[in-house]
Amino acid sequence: MIAPHGGRLINRIVTGAERDRLIDAASSMPKIRLNARETADVDMIGNGAMSPLQGFMNQADYNAVLDQKRLASGLPWAIPIVLATKDGDDASKYEEGKDVALEDENGQLTAILHLESKWQADKTREAKAVLLTDEDAHPGVQYLNSIGDWYLGGRISVVNRIAYDKFNQYRLDPVDTRVLFDKKGWKTVVAFQTRNPIHRAHEYLTKCALEICDGLLIHPLVGETKSDDIPADTRVKCYEALMEKYYPADRVVMSVYPQAMRYAGPREAILHAIVRKNYGVTHFIVGRDHAGVGSYYGTYDAQNIFNEYEDGEMDITPLMFEHSFFCKETGGMASSKTSASDKEMRVFLSGTKVREMLTNGEVPPAEFTRPEVAKILIEAMQQKVEA
Ligand code: ADX
Repeated sequence: MIAPHGGRLINRIVTGAERDRLIDAASSMPKIRLNARETADVDMIGNGAMSPLQGFMNQADYNAVLDQKRLASGLPWAIPIVLATKDGDDASKYEEGKDVALEDENGQLTAILHLESKWQADKTREAKAVLLTDEDAHPGVQYLNSIGDWYLGGRISVVNRIAYDKFNQYRLDPVDTRVLFDKKGWKTVVAFQTRNPIHRAHEYLTKCALEICDGLLIHPLVGETKSDDIPADTRVKCYEALMEKYYPADRVVMSVYPQAMRYAGPREAILHAIVRKNYGVTHFIVGRDHAGVGSYYGTYDAQNIFNEYEDGEMDITPLMFEHSFFCKETGGMASSKTSASDKEMRVFLSGTKVREMLTNGEVPPAEFTRPEVAKILIEAMQQKVEA
């Protein structure tokens, strides 16, 4: 089984007397109410999905990530995982060396932060380094502008797991997926990250990958996405419909990925791959404009960034795919690597285009989306219009 990033699966979930002690002490600690992104991060630090992180980043890791795409230890890592004060918060109430109670979005105590470092965020620097822009139109910049000015770093101890109200049957921790892959006898497993309803290009990439690997983990991101992305409830129905009819049941599993989208393109592809390794995955699909938004990143930037690391440093193997399309000449999916057809025979597909068609009340054609998926999307769109 592939080793977790850094060699050891972190477990920051405390139980028994230690948990009781921290819960008792929490009532006299300063509190902070987490937003959706931070709530998901707490969950994924706690269960080891973000190994080797044991908490929110301290300033040394944060700086190394921004400047070198590495942790201070030198391990590859490309996205800051940080906890911010909230607007109106007086940062002086959070003292280095003291504990802070972390409440989820509903005000439930979820974890204790053992505060080690506190520093003032330079959001423009972070935006330029991580998102490669500081334009307000970028959703990641909007997020940065929505949080407070101070970052709080330190290990966390999770005292209560997040009580999710959705997708609980699909929530598997890294320890669970690792046991599952082992039980299935899969030596190689490819993960597919997605934030869109599964379309024909996605199906093509995952099936090419299945020709190479023993098993496929469909691992849709169900954390926070920008408001015009299709909601996770609808997407999960699409994945279910597709799995029921179009994939071999014994070689594919679906589980949900709780993290929020950063829309950081290349750097986020590195995060997505590293975290999937922690789930026990050996291969990771990176297609065109992975985790991109608008035209902020080049089509293959999220693939090229993997070359910035030495061989073996990432451990997980990226499976890179060219922009794929439906070829009218052959009646199947292809890419410029496998097709001899003229440009006009190529139907390019994208989640963005599906969204546009649905918004205009058009039924996406079969070259675009399987009919079962189109039906779910149209129904969801109608419900939205009626609501
Ligand atoms: S993402 O934000 O999760 O990257 P999306 O769900 O659209 O968005 O994409 C999931 C994965 O499929 C990504 O690796 C992306 O690069 C890849 N992908 C999506 N559409 C295509 C396509 N037409 N050709 C090649 N790769 C694609």
